[in-house]
Amino acid sequence: MKHLISIEDLRREDAIALLATAEHMAETQERSIRKLPALLGSTVVNLFFEDSTRTRISFEAAAKRLSADVINFSAKGSSVSKGESLKDTALTLQAMGADLVVVRSSSSGAAHRLAHAGWIDQPIVNAGDGAHQHPTQALLDAFTLRRHLRPGNVHGDLAGAHIVIVGDILHSRVARSNVQLLTLLGADVTLVAPPALMPVGASGWPCRILDDLDEALALKPDAIMMLRVQRERMIGGGFFPTEGEYVRRYGLTDIRADRLPEHAIVLHPGPINRGLEIAGSVADSPRSVITEQVAAGVVVRMSVLYHLLAGDQTQEQTR
Ligand code: NCD
Repeated sequence: MKHLISIEDLRREDAIALLATAEHMAETQERSIRKLPALLGSTVVNLFFEDSTRTRISFEAAAKRLSADVINFSAKGSSVSKGESLKDTALTLQAMGADLVVVRSSSSGAAHRLAHAGWIDQPIVNAGDGAHQHPTQALLDAFTLRRHLRPGNVHGDLAGAHIVIVGDILHSRVARSNVQLLTLLGADVTLVAPPALMPVGASGWPCRILDDLDEALALKPDAIMMLRVQRERMIGGGFFPTEGEYVRRYGLTDIRADRLPEHAIVLHPGPINRGLEIAGSVADSPRSVITEQVAAGVVVRMSVLYHLLAGDQTQEQTR
């Protein structure tokens, strides 16, 4: 594995190996000294063309826990759709001595372009490109799901688990990456969205498609992942009548959460619109694993950086 651009690039065994290393990283984070020397001397550049708080901070924490140096390059406002500006940025990063570049952009395909245009030789990690892919988010979701639904099975998969993903699928790179990763790991996935927020091509994806959340809850899922209504990508509107109507049909309210099986967990990638896709009380309830997802983000990203930068060197360095 040279880059991490899309879940499509992973085989089942790659995904299992990344999750197993993340479990190992999580163990190291229980110690009094959480910093490991594994990437000492390496420089990780966070290249963010789009706003982000938790993903950028999470990559930064992950790199620092592995003793890498981190440079944050926030290029909000630059247009990556103009190939030249992305190329110039790549040449700058190369000249600065970056060993790995984490990139987030509102253009689908930006990470792929950076990895394959020949401007830069270093490994590229996609931290979200448009509505296309967000592979580390899917890995941290799978990590969190496996801990709850298949506890102790650190080399196993999610075979037989049923996960429902609800909301703004159309704009969601999180949903696309999760459908691919969760099905690669053997899970059964159901997508629920109002018809205007379901991508046209979704009928060809390896999952069940519904437009009624109550019908999905009746299937007794093991987990439900609520997606943020991405208002900033809904220019022109018309995707749903009103916020009240959205809550009534697609919101995870207390009443709906009470109909989930007792063991079922609730996920959300953040940032949350409390009172819209999820009630604040549900986000704060014992079945919510939202803060665990944030913690999983750090160890999963440690694993990804470690695999890409330390390659097949032995895991001894992290002990
Ligand atoms: C997601 C993203 O940016 O794609 N958030 C995240 O990575 N924490 C989902 C979202 O913005 O709703």
